[in-house]
Amino acid sequence: MKNNPIIPYILIMAFGIGLIFFMSLEGAGNKEEIAEGHEEEATTEEGGAAEEGGATAEGANGEELVSTCIGCHGGDLTGGMGPKIAGLDAEHIKDVLANGIEGTPMTPGLKTGAEAEAIAEYISSLE
Ligand code: HEC
Repeated sequence: MKNNPIIPYILIMAFGIGLIFFMSLEGAGNKEEIAEGHEEEATTEEGGAAEEGGATAEGANGEELVSTCIGCHGGDLTGGMGPKIAGLDAEHIKDVLANGIEGTPMTPGLKTGAEAEAIAEYISSLE
């Protein structure tokens, strides 16, 4: 085989193409990594939101939620600055939480939905 003077150029070209190919692969990999990074962030955010949602939707814990009420209704909800509410009818508690008592600190919508439900159940179970 005769030594073709063009061979070194072909080799350099092949090397260059290879390099470009390699770099583009590398770039694509990085892009994926970056995208994955964002995805992960998004998932954690979503996860956090889902957890919060879950807590209100099903895991609402009346015993924990009444921490908001304790300041006024006393540590065991038997009365403080506000009246004793322990043992009241659950329906009544839900009604007060939803509609409030005009002219008092019990503003309408103090707690809603599953939270109100859990609180009412918990308080009505007390004595
Ligand atoms: C800022 C103080 C305050 C907070 C916080 C508060 N309450 Fe009250 N609550 C009062 C006061 C004062 C009254 C009495 C209103 C009146 O004069 O009728 C009252 C009344 C009530 C009543 C009606 C009692 C009855 O005999 O009919 C219920 C039920 C009640 N609160 C539930 C709750 C629950 C549940 C929470 C927590 C989610 C809560 N309150 C948080 C001050 C508060």
